[in-house]
Amino acid sequence: MEKVKVLKLSEITENTSQLVEVEDKKIAVFNVDGEIYAIDDICSHAEASLSEGEVFDCIVECPLHGAEFDLKTGEATTLPATKPVVVYKTDVDDEYLYLEVDEDA
Ligand code: FES
Repeated sequence: MEKVKVLKLSEITENTSQLVEVEDKKIAVFNVDGEIYAIDDICSHAEASLSEGEVFDCIVECPLHGAEFDLKTGEATTLPATKPVVVYKTDVDDEYLYLEVDEDA
């Protein structure tokens, strides 16, 4: 497991999201009321970018067909997605956000 510095916290303001790339992975990072969450960017249903989805109550809605994912667990909470997305452990210091990324996963 590798800990990777991905962005400056000032780059992701409250209640916004951002797409970051670590190794070959696309990861969607969300700031929800000051809490940072990170999940796989690509929806488990088809090719859509979850960083472009709408967020409410720690749930992101896929912009393509509307499946919803829990940002804390990655679980798909509504159809049409049935598989979860990967959740990445976040670590925040005063200035930067780090993600724990498994290179082999
Ligand atoms: S691509 Fe996300 S729900 Fe279909």
